[in-house]
Amino acid sequence: MVRKCFYTIWILAMMLVIFTGAKAQQKINPDSIRCKMQWFADAKLGIFIHWGIYSVNGVDESWSFYNKKISYADYMQQMKGFTASKYNPQQWAALIKETGARYAVITTKHHDGMALWPTRQNHLNVVTNTPAKQDVLGPFYKALTEQGIKKGAYFSLLDWSHPDYPGFIKDSSRYKIADDPERWKRFQHFFQNQIHEINTAYKPDLWWFDGDWEKSSDEWQSESVRKQILSIQSNAIINGRLQGYGDYETPEQNFPVSRPKYNWWELCMTTNNNWGYHPDDTAYKTPFEVITIFADVVSNGGNLLLDIGPKADGTIPAEQVNILKELGKWNKKNGEAIFNTIAGLPQGHFYGPTTLSKDSATLYLFLPAQTAGNIMIKGLVNTIMDVQVLGTAAHLKQKVVGKISWSPVPGLVFISVPENVRDEYITVLKLSLDKPVKLYRGQGGLN
Ligand code: GLC
Repeated sequence: MVRKCFYTIWILAMMLVIFTGAKAQQKINPDSIRCKMQWFADAKLGIFIHWGIYSVNGVDESWSFYNKKISYADYMQQMKGFTASKYNPQQWAALIKETGARYAVITTKHHDGMALWPTRQNHLNVVTNTPAKQDVLGPFYKALTEQGIKKGAYFSLLDWSHPDYPGFIKDSSRYKIADDPERWKRFQHFFQNQIHEINTAYKPDLWWFDGDWEKSSDEWQSESVRKQILSIQSNAIINGRLQGYGDYETPEQNFPVSRPKYNWWELCMTTNNNWGYHPDDTAYKTPFEVITIFADVVSNGGNLLLDIGPKADGTIPAEQVNILKELGKWNKKNGEAIFNTIAGLPQGHFYGPTTLSKDSATLYLFLPAQTAGNIMIKGLVNTIMDVQVLGTAAHLKQKVVGKISWSPVPGLVFISVPENVRDEYITVLKLSLDKPVKLYRGQGGLN
């Protein structure tokens, strides 16, 4: 397998050299990264962690001073309360493991510039500037590795606290790059060094850049950032917020309706309406809602990166723990329909999310909204050999209706789902097909 991937990449690289005259490519060719993306495609669930000094007063992460909801001085005062006194990275990792997630992405540094590791770049970090006085990043990554969970590093390219960064508060900036290119060069040197520090000390499996919108690809030195990362971790995955040099797309809080055309994508989503700890935000999604969204995302070929915001002492709010545990419970029972699957049927065949096994001979139906009663599948050419309620011993009967002997159009399949097999959140039916799925996509008698 590795060898096959190597040859594919080699051939593609040669083709690129021939067709582009060895010029640097502007966009990443999906075929050249297919092998390294496999774990990501199989993972389906990641946990996002926004942890920083904003958790002390429970204000918006970085944005609160940028948007002038609070003064910069008051925002930075929060440093004094970031204790991490009950921080237990093993417990965090165990909780993440319990959800079924296969990767976790933590804010190594948000837009406020406060690093969670002891950066050597003479800049804000929790070891020097807060009572936590410890590297909180390293122990978490270690705990993740012990649990077999991939390590993700969120990194804000922009840094509103850095004296050499032009942007600061929404209506004031420090300087214009054109007026002082040397100063900007110093900043480039700074962020490249910070990335290098994280890369060498912790070797993240995945980089999650953010804040790229304030500058251009050239200004962020996107190509060299990518090269730098891959020179140390050749299989590291890089999210799409690196202006043309990322591997996958990151829709944020917005749910796609039609199936995204990207090869790889990940919906990042909060559990309430905020990324960081925000005690006044009680608008939590219910486990049912999160699981419904999760099934929908996976059905459309994406991953869910579900966010939590720990408190300043390192404990995770009870509401968030509850969501993670319920999701984990559901995954334990129904995970076969989620992990290592591929996107399900296109719209029109079943009124709910679906996924397929990799050989596409097993079809999983997610019954939306606590459905019981007769469900219907349209346009399935296959014969269904067995219908099982996932995670239970129950097998259900099917009835094929309206199959016309002379017509190539398949009949409708009805499956009666009794109330007593219903899952607490979303019931999944496992349909074993006679062979890889084959669909009729026509318009009845009209073609
Ligand atoms: C946005 C916000 C940021 C948050 C991120 C998570 O880019 O600027 O605060 O961390 O989304 O996706």
